[in-house]
Amino acid sequence: MNQRDKKTVFIRSFGCQMNEYDSEQVTRVLSKRGYTFVSDSSQADIILFNTCAVRRHAEDRVYGQLRMLRSAKKKNKHLIIGLMGCMANAYKDMLLQQYSYLDFISGTKDFTRLPEIINEVIGQRTQKAFISDLHDEFIYSKNFQNATKVNAFVPIMRGCDNYCSYCIVPYVRGNEISRSPQEIKDEISFLARKGVKEITLLGQNVNSYGKGLQPTIDFSTLLEQVSIIKSIEVIRFMTSHPKDVSEKLFSVMRDNKKVEKHIHLPLQSGSDKILQLMNRNYSIDKYRHEIEALRKQIPDVSVTTDIIVGFCQEGEKEFKETKMVMKDIEFDGAFIFKYSPREKTKAYDLPDTVAHNVKHERNNELLNLQSKISDKKNRSYIGRTEKILIAAVSKKSQKQVRGRTWSDKEVVCDGSSDLIGKVVTVELKGLSHETFKGQITD
Ligand code: SAH
Ligand code: SF4
Ligand code: F3S
Repeated sequence: MNQRDKKTVFIRSFGCQMNEYDSEQVTRVLSKRGYTFVSDSSQADIILFNTCAVRRHAEDRVYGQLRMLRSAKKKNKHLIIGLMGCMANAYKDMLLQQYSYLDFISGTKDFTRLPEIINEVIGQRTQKAFISDLHDEFIYSKNFQNATKVNAFVPIMRGCDNYCSYCIVPYVRGNEISRSPQEIKDEISFLARKGVKEITLLGQNVNSYGKGLQPTIDFSTLLEQVSIIKSIEVIRFMTSHPKDVSEKLFSVMRDNKKVEKHIHLPLQSGSDKILQLMNRNYSIDKYRHEIEALRKQIPDVSVTTDIIVGFCQEGEKEFKETKMVMKDIEFDGAFIFKYSPREKTKAYDLPDTVAHNVKHERNNELLNLQSKISDKKNRSYIGRTEKILIAAVSKKSQKQVRGRTWSDKEVVCDGSSDLIGKVVTVELKGLSHETFKGQITD
């Protein structure tokens, strides 16, 4: 096979929404150069993994998949295997040493130059790392993403300056850099013209949006500006940080018809001692007051969260405090993670004192607790009338469609694909796990 035949690419994302957006950027820049994409890796000339380093578990999934490629590479020495994204930044030397059949790794600021990287790899056939300096200004591609669905992710910033003591993200993504409001609006207008109706603004800490931009702008103002774009019906955003949310944001959420009535506000722990060790920069009191203020503005707002169990020095007392806060606040949903020590981070130097089986038990206990709370909250929605944007045909039946409410609840209802992209009113009739069964009323 000669160089010009190397045209089929398989790409897989292992990380967060930002990681998915980046994979989409890669798909776009490579498609423009004539590459085609396949959904079966055995049909591909080039296999790309966009990786995540946030927890050990995320990395293990990549290593598992990578090991399976060893024999594929033996059979086909022309196969190109590239590992992109957060793990490449975190472990560049180790990866190339330990995985001799890996052709290249490329970093979190190198997605848009993938065509050049691949050409170089094909031309030289030596293992190489392509990792740009993390302090460089990150430049987004001006060729906006393909719009194939009614919803799309739109990053409004890159990197993170918070340095929560457990978290690898600032080390692999670099400093926080806000994207210009004009570029964000241009991308959203472009998507709107392609039929997108729902956007999710992405950032590691969207509430600190605007740092370093001239003229000054904050996140609430960005939300209002974006909401002017015609034919966008729903604006979602994530992730919010409790140290930076504001009353102004809550008022915009209340008053602006397009902005979702939902916030993902990671609590991480219910103990002030642990929050301090985590370098989160808020107290439980502050967090509770924020939820109170938000619920005062929007009584039925939906609040979801992230919790880490088994962080360094989390004893029974601290764990109980987390349970208590969860019981008091009653989140609509929560992701529960077992603490996973990450090299380079501050917490890596603290003893990882909580035994694996204790982390496991605490994780299960919180999952059970949250599932009861979510169920109780969701059941209180039955009988209500809500608006949803129909996003797709249901996975289970061609005769059903699905969408999410403004409060981010998943609803399935009878209907055909012509409804995709339309906002309909539904009566919530029943609940199966976390999905509502709705009936269209208009
Ligand atoms: N910027 C976002 C998302 C960060 S990663 C935020 O601040 O919320 C998503 C979640 O992963 C975090 O909220 C945290 O709960 C979890 N997480 C991050 N690092 C972790 C680690 N080392 N071990 C376990 N969970 C971790
Ligand atoms: Fe990580 Fe904290 Fe930044 Fe979120 S805010 S990405 S948890 S350092
Ligand atoms: Fe996202 Fe994982 Fe990187 S959570 S930012 S892909 S470390």
